[in-house]
Amino acid sequence: MNENEEIQPGRILVLCALPYTNAVPHIGNIVGSHLPADIFARYCRLRGKETLFIGGADENGTPTEVATIELHVSPKQLTDALYLIHKKIYNWFWISYDNFSRTSTSTHHKTTQEFFSKIYENGYISEGVLSLPYCEHDKLFLPDRYVEGTCPYCQYSKARGDQCEQCTRLLDPDQLLKPRCKICGNTPIVKESKHLFLELEKLIPQLDEWIRSNKHWRIQVISLALGWIKEGLKRRCITRDLKWGVPVPLEGYKEKVLYVWFDAPIGYLSFTKEWAETNNMPEEWRNYWDLEKGKEAKIYNFIGKDNIPFHTIFWPAMIMAHGGLKLPYNVIGLQYCNYEGDKISKSRSWGIFCEKLPESGVDSDVWRYYLTYLIPETKDSDFKWEDFENRVNSEYVGNIGNFIHRTSTFVWKYLGGELPAVQLNKEESIVKEIFLTKKKIEELLDNVRLRDALTEILSLSDKGNRYFQENKPWELIKGSETDKEKCVHIIYVCTLLSISLSILLEPFIPKTSERILNQLNINFQEKWDSIGHPFSKVKHKINEPHVLFEKLTKEKVEMLKATVTKMTPLEEFLRKEKES
Ligand code: 2FM
Ligand code: ZN
Repeated sequence: MNENEEIQPGRILVLCALPYTNAVPHIGNIVGSHLPADIFARYCRLRGKETLFIGGADENGTPTEVATIELHVSPKQLTDALYLIHKKIYNWFWISYDNFSRTSTSTHHKTTQEFFSKIYENGYISEGVLSLPYCEHDKLFLPDRYVEGTCPYCQYSKARGDQCEQCTRLLDPDQLLKPRCKICGNTPIVKESKHLFLELEKLIPQLDEWIRSNKHWRIQVISLALGWIKEGLKRRCITRDLKWGVPVPLEGYKEKVLYVWFDAPIGYLSFTKEWAETNNMPEEWRNYWDLEKGKEAKIYNFIGKDNIPFHTIFWPAMIMAHGGLKLPYNVIGLQYCNYEGDKISKSRSWGIFCEKLPESGVDSDVWRYYLTYLIPETKDSDFKWEDFENRVNSEYVGNIGNFIHRTSTFVWKYLGGELPAVQLNKEESIVKEIFLTKKKIEELLDNVRLRDALTEILSLSDKGNRYFQENKPWELIKGSETDKEKCVHIIYVCTLLSISLSILLEPFIPKTSERILNQLNINFQEKWDSIGHPFSKVKHKINEPHVLFEKLTKEKVEMLKATVTKMTPLEEFLRKEKES
């Protein structure tokens, strides 16, 4: 980020890019949006902010059409089955969505159509005739993604008709060189069809000014966005000759649907409305979205880098054309996560696919811990099994787990599970360290620097281990009364540090954090503000400690490798779904 900022009063709306429900999520999808969004949302809640975390399935458009053609199922069958799979996986990861919805809901259709009508009335939609790729073999206007060919900018030979994956430029199918139909490989013909366009050109000055004003955005995001503007924005087609999607609410176009990238971001708004309705506060969405009522609110979008143009140009342009709604405060555009040195690929079955993780016997927090290091905040990251094993065993278990376990078992074994209240000296260096780390973590997390924050926590835990080791409480407990008193003091400080660590870790490993606090019998109202402060005025009794951090054995890692890198073909999923 360019500038340091602090979380100010006001609501926080955390939005995670809506995944297409045309495939089962892989590890790159988790680290690329859901996990960072969740860590940030959890942190904001911990800080006492009114936080809303919204996501959902992007069920319309080409990706769904493509999968249904290939799998011979209806879009509804496909999206119903995949919605449940996605939801199950995010729940397993403890991704704390307040509403994880889908773009096939009636609220979404209604919100999208109203949004369209408003933009239309405001004069930002024009008509035109397009010559579109049509496959005579498949009898189908080919959705943009169904046309493949060579990118006119970077010459990548497998560019899609909507975007080149290599140079990330947005494309139209007619720009592709040597176009071919993705289904059958034939060269498509060109057929005329009437369409509607969003007049992006009209919004260039406004977009340019807004992007430049966002000094707190990551530099990669700003420069990409300004790059699009510099290249010149053309009007963009927002209708498609498809059946599955949100019907266009305009005479002459009712047989068509809205472009998936038109309806999907409106999902952020419609799912917030849905959340408000479900919670019997139908107007509450305005406190996040309305320019006036939500003045103090901040919207954070967590997205992958291929989504950057849509979230810095296209969606903001839609918001500007609509009027009265808030623009994103921050667009956190993340890079890609690779697997063992190569791009994750479903077709090559290269990566970790999340479907088997819930049955893998490894706690979701273990995955969350390692995956946090893979959040591609500034550059692409790489999942490596060796690194996974090392980090889990030496840091997660060997550093954090070890400190917390040795502290609580000491209280249990040598102090009968009870700690007398101790006069805490705030000047004691380790206590000072707690406050210092808390401050640093606030600065980092306020600026969405998640990995660095975890590293700071690790370093605090390391200091805890050294403190324990250097003070040798196991010897002091056997010594004089003064030694025993000193021992109690040290263990009190270690318990305080364990409590602080588990609160600081809550956004990263929420389940384990809860377990540690239960074990230590701690139930604070204002968790974050309690960090570093004495936890009791009287004797404090803890619960019997159990092992909360377990090392990964070589066999376990081999077993994991053998299961979670396999992908169940979608056909099989759909069959199982039908049977159940
Ligand atoms: O790239 C994707 O997976 C899209 N489905 C993201 C949509 S984000 C939002 F705009 F809905
Ligand atoms: Zn074809």
